[in-house]
Amino acid sequence: MTAPTLEIHLTDDDLTEALRADARRGLTATPKWLPPKWFYDARGSELFEAITELPEYYPTRTERALLERVVGEIAEIARAEVLVELGAGSAAKTRLLLSALSAGGPLKTYVPQDVSESALRGAAAEIAAEFPGLAVHGVVSDFTDTLHNLPRGGRRMIAFLGGTIGNLVPAERAEFLTGIQRVLEPGEQLLLGAGLVIDPAVLVPAYDDAAGVTAEFNRNVLHVLNSRLHADFDPDAFAHIALWDTDNEWIEMRLEAGRDMTVTVADLDLTVRFARGEQLRTEISAKFRIDGLTAELAAAGFATEHVWTDPDARFALILAERR
Ligand code: SAH
Ligand code: AVI
Repeated sequence: MTAPTLEIHLTDDDLTEALRADARRGLTATPKWLPPKWFYDARGSELFEAITELPEYYPTRTERALLERVVGEIAEIARAEVLVELGAGSAAKTRLLLSALSAGGPLKTYVPQDVSESALRGAAAEIAAEFPGLAVHGVVSDFTDTLHNLPRGGRRMIAFLGGTIGNLVPAERAEFLTGIQRVLEPGEQLLLGAGLVIDPAVLVPAYDDAAGVTAEFNRNVLHVLNSRLHADFDPDAFAHIALWDTDNEWIEMRLEAGRDMTVTVADLDLTVRFARGEQLRTEISAKFRIDGLTAELAAAGFATEHVWTDPDARFALILAERR
């Protein structure tokens, strides 16, 4: 086995600097908001893994079952030499792709990318051990602004799984897809996993589980603010909210203040007041319709080659070629 290599484009100081800017902007806005990437410190990445095991959280197991069913077809169409995975996390489902792409195929290199260094280190080490013939090169970066750092050379496929595309608001999504189109060569591919619009009676519990794991994941952003910026949030004073927004077709996660509060963010010299019942938006998780998503891909310069869905049409995998 060759030891995995790691390329760090976001140091700890860079992360603190970026969080300072996001916290100042989001906590002084009306309504207050924070970008979802701040959930994912080491604890947040572990909480996300726990979410994927919950009975209510159908996306991960649905996407895994779909991948199991169609991964051979994907490998046949893709014939990738390099698999780049954005927001790879623990890369649990990626093993399916790696096996199929390397079985008699030309796959030589796996490049997992993530903002969470702890998750990435773990995934890279495990995959290098499981796939001794594969070169594993991790990249710690932010996929919303550093796509140009991704390695070039070899026929590439970029995978973006788990429905993480839904955590970007529409304007960010357009910019993100165009950014991917720019770093790919004509003929290279994007494999996108996306959650579909389904019955809110199934959707909402997936984001508001009975065991309260998602609530803890949501509150983790306040722990991150406390530890990175020396804020004094009392996370337990905030209630977890998950709402289905019918107009935008997204789940919105919020944290609601249980009482009037004055919070100090020491490193920003900032005092933030919350009125009882005031809500802070922490994440959107958009769900898609196939036509809408393929139109967004087309607008960014991708031709959809194939769409696969699970039998209940809860989740889609889309293979698209950079034109
Ligand atoms: N792909 C995995 C993990 C999904 S969780 C799966 O399908 O299960 C979302 C992952 O994206 C997390 O690992 C998180 O750390 C990462 N992430 C979130 N925002 C990011 C950003 N802006 N740049 C890079 N990684 C990000
Ligand atoms: C990573 N992302 C696709 C998850 C989602 O479903 O939007 C994050 C998550 N938020 C709450 N539960 C899981």
